[in-house]
Amino acid sequence: MDAAHAAMFTRSNVKKLRMPNIGSALQFEMMKMEILKPLLIAASDDNLTNLRFAKLFRTRRGNRRYLRDLMQKVDAQERNHLTQAICNHVIAPGRAPPFERKLKALDAKLTAEDWLRTALRANAIGMKLKITLRRPDDWHLHLRDGNMLRAILPYTSKHFARAIIMPNLVPPVVTSADAAGYRDRILGALPDGSKFEPLMTLYLTEQTDPDDVAAAHASGLIKAVKLYPSGATTNSASGVSHFDSVRPTLERMAEIGLPLCVHGEVTDSDIDIFDREAVFIDRVLDPIRRTTPGLRVVMEHITTSNAVDYARSQDETLGATITTHHLVINRNHILAGGIKPHYYCLPVAKREEHRLALRDAATSGEARFFLGTDSAPHTDANKLLPCGCAGCFTALNTMSILAQAFEEDGALDKLERFTSLNGPAFYDLPANEDTITLTKGDPVTYPSHVETPDGPVTVFDPGFDLNWRVE
Ligand code: NCD
Ligand code: ZN
Repeated sequence: MDAAHAAMFTRSNVKKLRMPNIGSALQFEMMKMEILKPLLIAASDDNLTNLRFAKLFRTRRGNRRYLRDLMQKVDAQERNHLTQAICNHVIAPGRAPPFERKLKALDAKLTAEDWLRTALRANAIGMKLKITLRRPDDWHLHLRDGNMLRAILPYTSKHFARAIIMPNLVPPVVTSADAAGYRDRILGALPDGSKFEPLMTLYLTEQTDPDDVAAAHASGLIKAVKLYPSGATTNSASGVSHFDSVRPTLERMAEIGLPLCVHGEVTDSDIDIFDREAVFIDRVLDPIRRTTPGLRVVMEHITTSNAVDYARSQDETLGATITTHHLVINRNHILAGGIKPHYYCLPVAKREEHRLALRDAATSGEARFFLGTDSAPHTDANKLLPCGCAGCFTALNTMSILAQAFEEDGALDKLERFTSLNGPAFYDLPANEDTITLTKGDPVTYPSHVETPDGPVTVFDPGFDLNWRVE
């Protein structure tokens, strides 16, 4: 009975009970729910208390018609999570196509913001926030050798399944024999039981033999070749000065589908250090792309909106890695209020507008952007010199920092693509099957530095609290 009619019944023997969302054919619906008869009996026994009625009315939870109307009503109000809850409730005991269809449509419709809003609500009521991702990989990592390798490798192997290993040792990893030896030393330095897989690279020089590269690729030993413009960064003296002399190797790589990882900075002394990446794109990278069609290229540790725009303008043969530190620091962090050698890395961090472009790229979920931490440990003694080394050591806290940054941008649902899915897809490798879980709670503390036999190495300090911990 509707409200207008109900209002006409005013005598003291009238008891009004509400049946919201049941429609206008109450009697019929009550018969279907098999509550009409017990209800009448209770009334005639003068026994129809509110509690008795509430118990009988509870059977609506199994009433499809009622549930469908309710679902449509809350859906029209865009209360997506309530709609999902109703659909899940109906589907749980068996098949229910209209509810299944609605649930599927909702899954597609729910945006990152919806997801985050729910998460924040859960957080506000004291629930622990938790996300589970496929285990991440690091698509640009410096592991060094000897003592340093043994001291720092466990921090990466704890969280990451695989990493592209940079070949800029002294002397560099130039031949397939060098790479095989280095891989064995890495495997030998792993903690017992670790399944970490080093993905090896060769350091491209003007003397590189294309046949050696092809053989190393064919045997599965290497996954990429690394191009350092000579003099661009730490241990890059044997890199390339004359790009024409490496053309045969690049052409061979294009043929066999072996990616080229590029440190994208020109080294000309007349080019401002903050412009070196943008100039490299115009003068070196784009010409290489045009003259070597099909060559798969990774623009490594991109630091500018120019690089983001260029990556977006290219086809799927171009990928770009972004480091953890470039997502959270700009050049002010290095230079304003005193010089901070531990924030000095190459390519050097740029203006805030560039950092924001990197954040936008990383959190976009776009397949071309993936994580390459460029975690590059140097002892404090080597960082804190009049001419200190470039590199940030982020292996320990990368996943905490990334979760914090993605949460801040309302993009936690894109984190897995950045750390665990886009990279393997670019390198034609399967995504990892096992997972890691991050939980949000009180701030996590990381050590300020790790001890190595060569001396302490300072851990990158993002400059804000980290609430996400890797379980
Ligand atoms: C790296 C290193 O220390 O090997 N340093 C850095 O600042 N990123 C080299 C590099 O990747 O440029
Ligand atoms: Zn690097």
